[in-house]
Amino acid sequence: MKKVSIFLLAFSCLALTASAWAAGGDGETLFKSRCGACHMRGGAAAPVNPGEKAGRVWVKYFKRDRHPVEIKATEAEMDLIIEFLEQHAADSDQPRMLAIPQ
Ligand code: HEC
Repeated sequence: MKKVSIFLLAFSCLALTASAWAAGGDGETLFKSRCGACHMRGGAAAPVNPGEKAGRVWVKYFKRDRHPVEIKATEAEMDLIIEFLEQHAADSDQPRMLAIPQ
């Protein structure tokens, strides 16, 4: 019985990882690829980093559709990106300023 539950646990971890992967990776990778496409040094827009705003400001920003141009990301991908932004926001335990190098 114990072996079976360990197997099930291992399997569900694998399944979770696989679904995050299918969505295009984790929040940080998505942030760098989707947002970094424009917000990089020499890119179409100024560099943007999670530590520039408080967590709730990030959530509001995207919930209210404040971003000036369309972002090519699915809803699931945006959720992961917003989660990453919140985790490393200015008022978080681990603010990050250089996720996209400036
Ligand atoms: C297609 C290009 C493009 C993509 C992709 C993109 N942005 Fe932008 N973004 C812009 C442009 C253009 C502006 C307005 C000009 C500026 O602020 O440099 C802007 C403005 C912003 C601003 C306002 C600037 C400020 O300092 O308040 C934030 C915040 C922002 N983007 C975050 C993001 C995030 C997070 C992502 C990824 C989910 C993203 N952007 C993806 C082009 C893009």
